[in-house]
Formats: sequence, C-alpha cells, structure tokens
Amino acid sequence: MTARIQAPTPTAIRRMAAVLKRGGLVAVPSETVYGLAAHALDAKACQRIFKAKGRPPTDPLIVHVHSLAAAAAVADLTPEARALGRAFWPGPLTLVLKKKEIVPDVVTSGLDSVAVRIPRHRVFRDLLRVSGLPLAAPSANPFGYISPTTAEHVLHSLGDRIEHILDGGACDVGVESTIVDLRNPAKPCVLRPGKITADEIAAVLGVPVTVRRGRSHPGKTGKKRRSTAQRAPGQLERHYSPATRLRWVKAIASEEVLTSGRRVAYLFVVRPADPRLAALGGRVAWLSESGDATEAARMLFSRLRGLDQGGYREIRVERLPDDPAYAVIADRLNRAAARGR
Ligand code: TXA
Ligand code: MG
Repeated sequence: MTARIQAPTPTAIRRMAAVLKRGGLVAVPSETVYGLAAHALDAKACQRIFKAKGRPPTDPLIVHVHSLAAAAAVADLTPEARALGRAFWPGPLTLVLKKKEIVPDVVTSGLDSVAVRIPRHRVFRDLLRVSGLPLAAPSANPFGYISPTTAEHVLHSLGDRIEHILDGGACDVGVESTIVDLRNPAKPCVLRPGKITADEIAAVLGVPVTVRRGRSHPGKTGKKRRSTAQRAPGQLERHYSPATRLRWVKAIASEEVLTSGRRVAYLFVVRPADPRLAALGGRVAWLSESGDATEAARMLFSRLRGLDQGGYREIRVERLPDDPAYAVIADRLNRAAARGR
C-alpha cells in the first residue's frame, strides 16, 4: 500500500467521504496536527486505525464532529460542556464526557467516557460535513512517534500503511489539542496541555481547573493498570519521541556547536545570532525567528522530525524561556526527552 497525497478539492472530499463510509482510513489535516480518521461508529474501521498506528487498544480515540448537535449524539453534553464548546469550538479543545451507547468500545477502550472535539481546519470540517459522520482520529503517526504537522510527515511515517492523505498545508497550532476531563463538572481537569490554557477554561467555567501531571508509562506501573484504558495516555512520560536521543542543555554557546562534531545536532529556541551557526545547515535548527511562542509551537514537531532524520547521535535542546507561553512546548519536549518505554 502506498499513500497518495491529495489536494482537498470538492471531488476529493466527496471521494474521501465515500472511503470513510465504506470503513476506510483517511489522513486529514486539523489545526493542531494531522489525524488518521475513520467512521467513529464503525468498530471495524476504528480497529484499522489501531493496526495502522501500532497503537495499543488501551489508548482511546478522540471523536471529531461538525456541530454541537453532532457532539450531543455521541456524548452527554452538560451545560459546562456547552459553555466550553461555545467559547472554544471549533478549535483545539477536546472534552472528555460521559459517552452515549452508540459509541463502540474500541473507540473508548471500554471506558464509559468519550473524548470529543469540533476541529477548526476547513478541510476537516468539509469532510465532516460532506460525510455526515463522526470521525474518530488520533494523530496520524506511528504510536509514540512525533505527531505530523504536514501531509509529507504523514506520508513519510505512515505512507506504507494507509492509502489516502488529504493535504491541508502545514498545521497552524502545531501541537495537539488541550484535553479537559469534564466528567465531574465541579472539578474539571486538564489531562493534556495545549494551546487553550487551564486559566482560559477556568474563566469560562467559573471554577478552578486542575492540571494533571504526567505519569509514567503504564508498562512501568504494573500489570493491573496495563489491562485497563489509560486516563489520558497523551500523558505518557515518553511520547512524541524522536529515535535520536534528546538532551536538555542550559544554554548553547557558539564555540560548543562549532567544535562538537558533525554527529551532534542543536535545537535553539530562537534563531541564533551568530551567522556561523546558521551556516552549519541541517544540524542547527530553531523554533522561531524572534522568540514568538506561537510560532515555536507551530514549528516544534517539524523541527524535531527534521533533526531526527539527520542520523545524529544526539539532539541538544536549549532550555526554554521561563514563560507560561512555552508550557506546552516544554510538556512535549519533556516527553520526547524521556528515556525508556
Ligand atoms: O489535536 C488533537 O487532539 C489531535 C487531532 C487529530 O484532533 N488528536 C490527537 O489524538 O492528538 P491522539 O489519539 O494522538 O491523542 C488523544 C488523547 C490520547 O492520549 C487518549 O488517550 C486521550 O486523548 N483520550 C481519548 N479518549 C479519552 C477518554 N475517554 N478519557 C481520557 N483520555 C482520552
Ligand atoms: Mg497522538
């Protein structure tokens, strides 16, 4: 099987909607990262997602829908969920809610909750509207690897396991959605940080929002846990990981880079001022031109992939500014740097 990248013409969207209705898989752009979509109410189709990604069945999927009405068909939309939906949907927010019976167990890993999101990307919205289906879609990467933010990323790492990739350009946000557990509306909890912050959510709900700390991989927490669905496996200590070893360093001096040898790569937060570094080409990369955290998040996975493919022995990552705007980037890089699975 070799995937084809397709422009999102109206004809292509109609054809991809038909593929999904038949139980096939389509990689689709979202504003966060690319997703690998299947008909969410078709258990067999959703099983194909797990197979293509090499994803453990204990890691539940997010169900993407076009409207609040479509969300209410798969989950109990509490007043709190509606308030957050009105404030942030369509957009990079996922709500964990009590699921409706109609959602197959394979999607939720047997949990009685379901993760729901209304995405903002035009191509994803078109596909949801034209197909009329709720679409289960995890990030379109092999399990545990860096999430894809372009169609080429999907082709590169899943291209031999799927057939269809819709091209929607580079993802605007660049990191996965914020996941909020709203099962107990009095105690909302951020399970995975994202562009929408706990403070923004608290401002809408009028109650404090806790942020769950990452926990170690279930493989390390004993047999009991391994057999049940993870609460938010996006929290796995090691995730979003390049094959190359990643190491945090406090600051990167020019002389170090110039003398480190060709097998060490460097990831700066901001473009280094020293022109000798930029001239080194592939093994020096940066997250933003001038320190804009939004740009840095957008570029993060793309830069990591680029460096990972250079065959380096190690990637040294410059410490991030002590600024809440970098919290999501820190979360993803910390997981990417975690050793051992
Ligand atoms: O931005 C995103 O959220 C992207 C785009 C494609 O929408 N999707 C994404 O999916 O990141 P994925 O599967 O890579 O991450 C979804 C996370 C997983 O960590 C999963 O465990 C968690 O959501 N999740 C899904 N259902 C859940 C549930 N019922 N309770 C708690 N966590 C859940
Ligand atoms: Mg993922």
